[in-house]
Amino acid sequence: MYKFPRTLAMGAVMLALFQGAAQAADTRLEAVHQELQALYDEFGGVDEALEATHHDFELRTVLCSYCHGSNGHSRNREVPSLAGQHAEYILLQLMDFASGERKLKVMHDLAEGMEPRDGAIIALHFSHMPPDQPEVDPVLAQSGAEIYVQHCVACHGVDGRGSGLAYARISGQQPDYLYKRLAAFNAAPEEGEAMHAMTRKLNSLELKALAHYAANLK
Ligand code: HEC
Ligand code: HEC
Repeated sequence: MYKFPRTLAMGAVMLALFQGAAQAADTRLEAVHQELQALYDEFGGVDEALEATHHDFELRTVLCSYCHGSNGHSRNREVPSLAGQHAEYILLQLMDFASGERKLKVMHDLAEGMEPRDGAIIALHFSHMPPDQPEVDPVLAQSGAEIYVQHCVACHGVDGRGSGLAYARISGQQPDYLYKRLAAFNAAPEEGEAMHAMTRKLNSLELKALAHYAANLK
């Protein structure tokens, strides 16, 4: 019987895995698009929805601001800022916290009980707030430039704003938080396959440099 060359068979398996993951990502992105679209339709546009749900947003994010800061600018270096983050990405993360795919007890409890419409309101408002400009280490930031341009631009953009809606904005983010996430991606594929592949060969100094470089982008 003809045997597949080993590398070819491996390639086919990798491709199937990748396509499976991409399809799952498409379905999830489609679901969060629908949640946002439902909100725009309810008020007849994005600006209208923003204006009409301002009070709801304030009411539903009293608790969030305790950790994520006022105006979505975190003052805790290990807690992410939410200001300027893509609405789609925020909703995807809430979905992952709710399902337990991304792990943090407090975020699980908050996300699990959240109505989709409330999630959409919260994500919409944070995404329209101006991002923060956190303090970074200038030497580290500079040393991260080369790796960033080589390995990160395709998905997060030259400006760190995320070149696709499911790709996080990382510019203006707290550098210690970015480093913590990069170290987690580096250590475990369960944290996110694409990001594990991108970080697994980098050492902790390189990850730290990337975190400071990305945080400093505008
Ligand atoms: C007790 C503190 C706390 C509260 C309250 C809290 N969060 Fe969080 N949240 C965190 C921490 C810490 C993380 C980062 C988890 C990690 O390191 O993976 C996080 C992560 C997130 C993320 C993912 C951000 C990213 O860049 O990936 C989103 C979105 C989020 N929170 C939204 C909210 C919303 C909306 C609320 C209010 C309904 C809220 N959080 C309340 C502590 C909190
Ligand atoms: C193939 C596309 C792709 C490339 C290339 C890529 N990323 Fe990502 N990145 C993603 C995706 C998708 C996510 C969201 C993961 C999730 O949903 O948990 C992400 C998430 C992140 C996060 C977490 C953001 C947050 O708010 O929690 C950081 C930090 C990050 N990437 C940095 C980088 C850096 C630095 C590089 C270059 C070494 C890089 N990425 C290269 C796709 C990519």
